[in-house]
Amino acid sequence: MKIGLLTSGGDCQALNAAMRGVVKALYENTDDISIIGFEDGYKGLIYNNFHTVAPSEFSGILTKGGTILGTSRQPFKKMNVPDENGLDKVEAMKKNYKNLGLDCLVILGGNGTHKTANLLSNEGLNIVTLPKTIDNDIWGTDISFGFQSSVDIATNAIDCIHTTAASHGRVFIVEIMGHKVGHLALHAGIAGGAHIILIPEIPYDLDKIIDAIEKRDKTGKRFTILAVAEGAISKEDAALSKKEYKQKLKGSKYPSVAYEIADKIKEKTGKEIRIAVPGHTQRGGAPCPYDRVISTRFGAAAADLIIKGEYGNMVAMVNGEIKSVPLGEVAGKLKTVDAEASVIKEAKAIGISFGD
Ligand code: F6P
Repeated sequence: MKIGLLTSGGDCQALNAAMRGVVKALYENTDDISIIGFEDGYKGLIYNNFHTVAPSEFSGILTKGGTILGTSRQPFKKMNVPDENGLDKVEAMKKNYKNLGLDCLVILGGNGTHKTANLLSNEGLNIVTLPKTIDNDIWGTDISFGFQSSVDIATNAIDCIHTTAASHGRVFIVEIMGHKVGHLALHAGIAGGAHIILIPEIPYDLDKIIDAIEKRDKTGKRFTILAVAEGAISKEDAALSKKEYKQKLKGSKYPSVAYEIADKIKEKTGKEIRIAVPGHTQRGGAPCPYDRVISTRFGAAAADLIIKGEYGNMVAMVNGEIKSVPLGEVAGKLKTVDAEASVIKEAKAIGISFGD
């Protein structure tokens, strides 16, 4: 069997661990396997940049962050648009897959990646995918690898801010990754003991944020920590159309929402606010043990799908069990935080404000 592998979109921890899982399980359970690694995601498949990856290259990478194949962002909405030289990208991918004589293409990626994976599957290619993203927003799976490792990093950032915020009696905003969804800010916020958590799914009211800060002041708490998702949005902005909001962000003088919120709190309270942005550290470094385990399990499950010829599926975790979900059910949907979920109620029960 000849299997292609590619990692696409933003990287995360455990991509290598997942590929190692796929390849080890294939080598253990089949004869005569050869692995083609496409370089830098779909770009490698479009422009035929690949190399044969020796089995030994998948050893010793369980704990290695990033991706040994490289990755890139190839927006789905541009997949059907010819490149600057007029190349039809979808036709090029199909041609390269066929010319290489691949039996299956294994794709590791997030939301955008799954849209293209579904397109290729509908075009007749044998596709199996694995869910990766620190955002944990892939539809059809309870968890994606990368998420728990980034929760650890973002939590550690909040932990570090705790000590300095307490010493100085300051208000701090820690900006957590997640433009569209707030799973990471929610989990790191709770784990790091943040007092206010702002996520895109629960638009905030600035006065409610200030009430929460003042409530802490009144009870003698000298500091407040806000865990703010990159996509946190005010109630007023949430009432704008998508186009209007994009326009507003374009003209904004702030580098990101954390700066805007800080400025507004300062304006209303006179308090000096500090901002910490862990940024891409949240996607870096070694995968945590949890991610090593699920990526290995996902990898072995992907190999099983290949061996059985069950193509057109993503491996997933559903209610604690490893399952497969048809790509058509996954592509184009986003798993957002349910504002009515019990985790939100429990967080509110212990006094965490969501600014609503
Ligand atoms: O999709 C994962 C993600 O890490 C988001 O949480 C974040 O907003 C974005 O990628 C950053 O993307 P880039 O690496 O392109 O700056």
